[in-house]
Amino acid sequence: MFSKILLFIFPIFIASAPSKNSTNGDIEPCLKEFYQAAYDGVYNCTKEFDFFSKNSTPKVFKSAKPCFLEVAKSECSNSQYNLLSTKYDDFLEVITEEPKSDTSCESFYFKYNSMKCVPMMGDIAAKVAPLAQKHLKVNDSRLLDLVDTCDRVKSCMSPPCYFNDVEKSMITEGCNSINLRNTKFSECLSEIQKESPDLSGYKCLKGVDFNSKAPTDIIDKFSKNQACTKQIMEEFCGKEAVENFDEYAEMTAEKVVQMAQMMQILQGES
Ligand SMILES: *[C@@H]1O[C@H](CO)[C@@H](O)[C@H](O)[C@H]1NC(C)=O
Ligand SMILES: *[C@@H]1O[C@H](CO)[C@@H](O)[C@H](O)[C@H]1NC(C)=O
Ligand SMILES: *[C@@H]1O[C@H](CO)[C@@H](O)[C@H](O)[C@H]1NC(C)=O
Repeated sequence: MFSKILLFIFPIFIASAPSKNSTNGDIEPCLKEFYQAAYDGVYNCTKEFDFFSKNSTPKVFKSAKPCFLEVAKSECSNSQYNLLSTKYDDFLEVITEEPKSDTSCESFYFKYNSMKCVPMMGDIAAKVAPLAQKHLKVNDSRLLDLVDTCDRVKSCMSPPCYFNDVEKSMITEGCNSINLRNTKFSECLSEIQKESPDLSGYKCLKGVDFNSKAPTDIIDKFSKNQACTKQIMEEFCGKEAVENFDEYAEMTAEKVVQMAQMMQILQGES
């Protein structure tokens, strides 16, 4: 459930990341390719540098010039490569010197420095997708890896002017869903889905299938009828599963509402 939402959120976000043609010396397309290659470790030379930590950018690009150009030669267009190789110092200046007046976020400084966060976002999207239908336990290594990547991407995005509030809150929401997935609460729901126990004895369900995937049923399960849900979860999985139940139930209901809205938007557009 949560993963399906993420499947929508992350690709939409990445697709909407600005991607202009290389005019006026804007080397954003090249930087994007560079950071992706460095993130994926495609070229050996990038492994010697930390291109992704928050405060490393200025120093790193100075010492990594030969490496950067090696990658750019293969990954970027000829014109972008030519621009960089002939005007590397100009590029260094732009990516290094934070504008003094913080009245505008328009500067290339912010745009270039924010690009390093993009591969992490793609990484999350790629890792979430295969977990969508999986029954996962708390602290599953794949969940912990996602939680860790989320922490890094949030830290990466945090400096002012790198990303706008909408972009930041999309990532925060997505990462909250991942955190929620790594709880006994979610593990229990997954367990009940997997085991599909006979719950017909619970009159409080009023005949509704506990594992129903219909959005309205799920929303009711975690709002109107949450006392019943809590009782079932506690009896089936134990007390740990209902710690912070109210908070998690509210989050879940909200996600489902959001997803239902998003589905409507997507269907309306097609
Ligand atoms: C960007 O460049 C490509 C090919 O170089 C061209 O087809 C496209 O129309 C350009 N887009 C814009 C917005 O200029
Ligand atoms: C990168 O390093 C590995 C291991 O040291 C080596 O086998 C490989 O040939 C190197 N690749 C390039 C393109 O230099
Ligand atoms: C998950 O890992 C955290 C941190 O190591 C630990 O505190 C917690 O008890 C673990 N939870 C479970 C259910 O194993």
